[in-house]
Amino acid sequence: MKVNGQDMRTIWVENDTVKIIDQRFLPHELKIIPIENLEDARAAIADMKVRGAPCIGATAMYGMAVSVRNDPSGTAVKTAYDVLNASRPTAVNLKWAIDECMKAVDGLAEAERADALFKLSAKNCDDDAQMCSNIGDYGKTLLDEIAKHKDGATINILTHCNAGWVATVDWGTAISPIYKAFNAGMDVHVWVDETRPRSQGARLTAWELEQHGVPYTVITDNSGGHLMQHGLVDICFVGTDRTTATGDVCNKIGTYLKALAAFDNNVPFYVCAPSNSIDWDMQDGLKEIPIEVRSGEQEVGWITGRDEKGVIRRVTTMPDPKKTRNDAFDVTPRKYITGLITERGITNASRAGLLQLFPEKT
Ligand code: MRU
Repeated sequence: MKVNGQDMRTIWVENDTVKIIDQRFLPHELKIIPIENLEDARAAIADMKVRGAPCIGATAMYGMAVSVRNDPSGTAVKTAYDVLNASRPTAVNLKWAIDECMKAVDGLAEAERADALFKLSAKNCDDDAQMCSNIGDYGKTLLDEIAKHKDGATINILTHCNAGWVATVDWGTAISPIYKAFNAGMDVHVWVDETRPRSQGARLTAWELEQHGVPYTVITDNSGGHLMQHGLVDICFVGTDRTTATGDVCNKIGTYLKALAAFDNNVPFYVCAPSNSIDWDMQDGLKEIPIEVRSGEQEVGWITGRDEKGVIRRVTTMPDPKKTRNDAFDVTPRKYITGLITERGITNASRAGLLQLFPEKT
């Protein structure tokens, strides 16, 4: 997608150096940093310089590549795998990506490993962008249907967190159908959940939509249900960090509450799920998906933003920022999900629905 008119991805290689956007500085600064070794990759994921399940996967893969370029021995490959695997627990794309790396180096001589991993990482980025583009095309068909009944009125879409292009390699998942619809000249407007505590909606989704010229309004995390009750939301699109083989979805904390409100108000609630965020080994999202718990003091107790003079400040609104809790994700049971939008099409949030699209997983 474009930033200030220039095409960009979230991760790329320039003169043999892997580069990422440090998303912690957006929307105030577009800071680009290198990933030169295993620790750079680990910290980029753990400290959320990159975030969003597909972008985490792409970074982990390049993390394996740079690490193996620095030390191709079997012990170092195993260490890189373990270190990256432990960097964030919830998005299954991370494990998927490093498992692919292990398969790619299996049986290769040490001298061949780095090249194989760089090639795999580049291919993964292209594949990821294509999957997200397909999700956009399928998701747009839902917006086309809604448009038929709206008599030219604006289509209002609600989204949570950031599942736009900065959460992936390009296009995004939940925002991809919106970009496709907007590019086709459709009249769309996005309700952007602020998404406390890290405000991925207010900071990142709003920035992306602003850059692309898509109309949007940032709302507090508590507003969505009220807007749905008043007929102001036509459809919800969200992303996923891990979808079970049975269709339960784990996504940014607060997704579940939006799904409940959508269910109660007959608002279609779709999850945009690339296949590498499906965990075919898990059946029960509530019992099995590991939910990341991050520092409450750092992320709930304190908030960072720009003041009227343009100075970035960190402030608290609480008497004691330590008295906080910060579960980063929640699970939306499949019964509240209208459908899953994958790169192969749209299906029910169920084992049967997923297997129809991915019969090779039977
Ligand atoms: O903690 P984050 O910012 O990594 O959480 C991201 C989300 O929950 C996204 O909605 C999800 O990864 C899907 S991204 C296409």
